[in-house]
Amino acid sequence: MFSWLVIFIYVAVYSRFAEAEILGTSDKLLELYDFIVVGGGTAGNVLANRLSADRRTTVLVIEAGGPNDVLDLQIPYLWTSLIGSAYDWNSTSTPQSGLGNRSVSLARGIGLGGSSSINAMLYTLGSADNYDAIAELVDDESWSWNRLEPFFGKDGTQLGSSPSPVMDTIEVAPPRFYQPTDGRIMQTTQENSEFPFNNNTNSGKQLGFGWSKSTIAPDGTRSSSATVYLKPEVINRPNLHVLLNTQVTRLLQLDRTDKTRFDGVEFVENVRSVPSRTKLVAAKREIILSAGAYGTPHILLNSGIGDARDLTSLGITPKHDLPSVGHNLTDHALTTLTWIVNSTTTYESIQRNETLRAMLLDQWYRNGTGDFSSSGIDHVACLRLPSTADIFNSVPDPSAGPNTGHFEIIITNGNIFGGPTPDNLIAATLMVLTPMSRGFVKLNSAHPLDKAAINPSYLSHQFDRYTMRETIRATQRFFDSSAWNGYVLSRAGEFATVDLEDDKELDAYIRDNVVSGLHPVESSSMSPRGASWGVTDPDLNVKGLQGLRVVDASVIPLIPAAHTQGPTYVYAEMAADIIKKYWNIV
Ligand SMILES: Cc1cc2nc3c(=O)[nH]c(=O)nc-3n(C[C@H](O)[C@H](O)[C@H](O)COP(=O)(O)OP(=O)(O)OC[C@H]3O[C@@H](n4cnc5c(N)ncnc54)[C@H](O)[C@@H]3O)c2cc1C
Ligand SMILES: *[C@@H]1O[C@H](CO)[C@@H](O)[C@H](O)[C@H]1NC(C)=O
Ligand SMILES: *[C@@H]1O[C@H](CO)[C@@H](O)[C@H](O)[C@H]1NC(C)=O
Ligand SMILES: *[C@@H]1O[C@H](CO)[C@@H](O)[C@H](O)[C@H]1NC(C)=O
Ligand SMILES: *[C@@H]1O[C@H](CO)[C@@H](O)[C@H](O)[C@H]1NC(C)=O
Ligand SMILES: *[C@@H]1O[C@H](CO)[C@@H](O)[C@H](O)[C@H]1NC(C)=O
Ligand SMILES: *[C@@H]1O[C@H](CO)[C@@H](O)[C@H](O)[C@H]1NC(C)=O
Ligand SMILES: *[C@@H]1O[C@H](CO)[C@@H](O)[C@H](O)[C@H]1NC(C)=O
Repeated sequence: MFSWLVIFIYVAVYSRFAEAEILGTSDKLLELYDFIVVGGGTAGNVLANRLSADRRTTVLVIEAGGPNDVLDLQIPYLWTSLIGSAYDWNSTSTPQSGLGNRSVSLARGIGLGGSSSINAMLYTLGSADNYDAIAELVDDESWSWNRLEPFFGKDGTQLGSSPSPVMDTIEVAPPRFYQPTDGRIMQTTQENSEFPFNNNTNSGKQLGFGWSKSTIAPDGTRSSSATVYLKPEVINRPNLHVLLNTQVTRLLQLDRTDKTRFDGVEFVENVRSVPSRTKLVAAKREIILSAGAYGTPHILLNSGIGDARDLTSLGITPKHDLPSVGHNLTDHALTTLTWIVNSTTTYESIQRNETLRAMLLDQWYRNGTGDFSSSGIDHVACLRLPSTADIFNSVPDPSAGPNTGHFEIIITNGNIFGGPTPDNLIAATLMVLTPMSRGFVKLNSAHPLDKAAINPSYLSHQFDRYTMRETIRATQRFFDSSAWNGYVLSRAGEFATVDLEDDKELDAYIRDNVVSGLHPVESSSMSPRGASWGVTDPDLNVKGLQGLRVVDASVIPLIPAAHTQGPTYVYAEMAADIIKKYWNIV
């Protein structure tokens, strides 16, 4: 009771948001904007900011969700509680054949900031190899690591090193609050050469254990695309309108003389409360789709842009035959393992103890410090399978190059995903960074407000299953290092009884426990100009059309061996540059 009262008073008095002017309804919309950005998420808000910097250019952002001035979105510690909340689309996959036909939840943000408002805030760029492989794949050097460097700085994200656009805005910081287990992690990197230390995993060379960098502001609050790219002074620009609680249903061809041009955006307001009738707004120069890896292909397909045969069979008139739309969806498969530890200072102790939580919240309000100012993730490790791994006898190495990890290990001081347990734990969250499984986003029906069928196809490829097995084994070797003697006591939960030597037992465990890594990309993939596959050209224009670009994680044509917000921000900054140059915007 007392703690809730404390919370209430602090919310009322200290909430650190300035009132920003945002359109609650479409009543004040103009009929025509130079640019309409669909989706006020991670990438969308970058474009809103950069394109509206020129006051002669009118920009409208349409976002399905509400505002981000909500306490839960500010407190870094609470990020796991946002999964399945009002700020999550709550999408679910189709039954996954690689996971024993389980469906898994596919969290993604709804509301200003999109997924950057609910994510774990890790800022990883991935390897230079990744970007260079993409530049080669799309046959355009401008997407290479060296050419993108202006957007993230010579030194990756080493603090304060560079005046790059991303660094100017997105706040990226090393851990603000160190966990008592950090010392043992560092000790392991010194005593076990399988797990070397890397002092800057964002330098283009990502291999090894490094201190995490997170998008958390110096005052201990979450830094999202909404908090940094849509600051009040940006939102208050008279030439920028941000329309919330409005779902885009389709893109239309208003100018009927030009079959290659989509210039109308159809939308419905308040879909989740009292839906409006469908309404329309027009774009003079461009529509930019930034609705994310699930939302963007969904809107394209609703609009008749996609595989003409699939669309026809659903009763949708194909407007532009583009068979790749929705295909090649790729995500990281993820699983979390736990061990029982000899400690009382882990996340579980916080989860079990309401008094302690109230104290930590109080510390966060007063001072912006402590556990609540942290995502709980202090280290990220990207590691490679040995070159002698027997999988390479049957499968070519899918990694982008020798400096790219095949898998990731994140160690946390307790299970940040779990509820309170009687035991104190240490957890390892594992991901396959270079998956070979490919899935799709398809329509279930011709009704644009119906959910799409999303199939990331987790672990459908043997390489991904192999790599997940080897990642689990590597993690056990990590904890077998002497740094953990007397601290890590035994494996916990269902994992405790799995015979790690036995591929079949491990496979069964993996099938039952893998979930989404929350990094979907590639579903509206960029490809070389003139290619028979792909959705956009390297300038991000949808192939064969005018005035329609895709700028979000869905255009990334090869999944980065990284958490995907960093690459998404970099892509969005690059896209803003391309668009500004094309239209002579300053
Ligand atoms: C829970 C979670 C944790 C994550 N943790 C990390 C992490 O720690 N580090 C990291 O790098 N990455 C992380 N990611 C992934 C990362 O956040 C995403 O890859 C990235 O934010 C994607 O950006 P985007 O612009 O493509 O899409 P989003 O940021 O999702 O933006 C899409 C926006 O479009 C809106 N939209 C969709 N459809 C419509 C429509 N029809 N009409 C109007 N608006 C629409 C959505 O509401 C949303 O605001 C995480 C993701 C999640 C969900
Ligand atoms: C997601 O599910 C939660 C819990 O059921 C619900 O409160 C929330 O409104 C849902 N999100 C959306 C966008 O519908
Ligand atoms: C999964 O579903 C497919 C198709 O419905 C079926 O053939 C298969 O036996 C199922 N597998 C399991 C493990 O249930
Ligand atoms: C890591 O880099 C930082 C900043 O560049 C430096 O201060 C620190 O000493 C380095 N640490 C190690 C162990 O090399
Ligand atoms: C998927 O991507 C690959 C390139 O990575 C491409 O060769 C293939 O044609 C794509 N498939 C579809 C259906 O677009
Ligand atoms: C809960 O946390 C408070 C503050 O740290 C501490 O005094 C108390 O002993 C804890 N309660 C239990 C049951 O551990
Ligand atoms: C408040 O924060 C500062 C750093 O920002 C730190 O040095 C100090 O110890 C903190 N005080 C409390 C009471 O947590
Ligand atoms: C737990 O740690 C303490 C030291 O902190 C040690 O004395 C004790 O032996 C450990 N317990 C086990 C079971 O290893």
